[in-house]
Amino acid sequence: MDMDGKVALITGGSNGIGEGVARHLAAQGARLVLADIDDARGMAVAEELGGRFIHTDVTEPADSTAAAAFAVAEFGGLHLAHLNAGVTSWCSMGDDFDAEAYRRAMRINLDGVVYGITAARPAIIASGGGTIVATASMAGLVAAPFDPIYAANKHAVVGLVRSIGASYAAEGINVHALCPSFAYTNIIKGSEQMLLDMGFPILDVSDVVAAFQRILESEASGECWYVIAGRESEPFRFRNAPGPRL
Ligand SMILES: NC(=O)c1ccc[n+]([C@@H]2O[C@H](COP(=O)([O-])OP(=O)(O)OC[C@H]3O[C@@H](n4cnc5c(N)ncnc54)[C@H](O)[C@@H]3O)[C@@H](O)[C@H]2O)c1
Repeated sequence: MDMDGKVALITGGSNGIGEGVARHLAAQGARLVLADIDDARGMAVAEELGGRFIHTDVTEPADSTAAAAFAVAEFGGLHLAHLNAGVTSWCSMGDDFDAEAYRRAMRINLDGVVYGITAARPAIIASGGGTIVATASMAGLVAAPFDPIYAANKHAVVGLVRSIGASYAAEGINVHALCPSFAYTNIIKGSEQMLLDMGFPILDVSDVVAAFQRILESEASGECWYVIAGRESEPFRFRNAPGPRL
């Protein structure tokens, strides 16, 4: 997709991966709406990039609807939605399970993507088609014993994207999941050395942005792109589920 003059909405666009994608798209001439709960940082980034900011809590369906409507009102359409806001949960599945921490993580990482997709869909169709990218994680493709609730909601995003890929493509919207391994952002702040000691290389945000660009160049839909150090991002090839035994 040539992003020059196109309109992009980015949730979680105030920091980290969302901010990196915003800077990348602005350099290509895209018109940006950043949607986040971090108002101060989001407004500063949006102003620097000639875009707009709208306070958006992705756990509230009305906020996602308002953000899509704001993009259309400000720039006349919507072509790309990057549903990227997310948090780790660090929620134990042991004796100290915390139901509120669990629900909070599911509301932001799963409900936020569901509301974001359903809010963006009519605006993108009305604009002649486009792309939706949901930020999942490698934790949506592999087990993540360090944060099982995070793995659960990221696997759910992967399942959602795979499931709507074909029907959305028929309406002119390609849908993808971006699945990075660990990257240097606020989300892993304080854990960097532990991760390196455990043998996990940590990506730069620019590596994740490069993967995002590859997604924009894809003509497929419903794909889930892993992003790991040392190789170009590609769609993950899922094995077929087994059929009946002979
Ligand atoms: N950094 C990593 O190692 C890594 C790896 C894989 C996936 N991810 C995913 O990437 C996405 C972006 O995270 P990041 O690493 O850039 O972290 P980050 O903390 O820098 O950015 C997350 C952004 O989401 C915003 N946000 C949080 N709750 C929100 C809410 N309720 N409504 C709207 N915005 C909200 C935050 O204010 C922040 O700007 C997340 O979905 C995360 O799960 C990150």
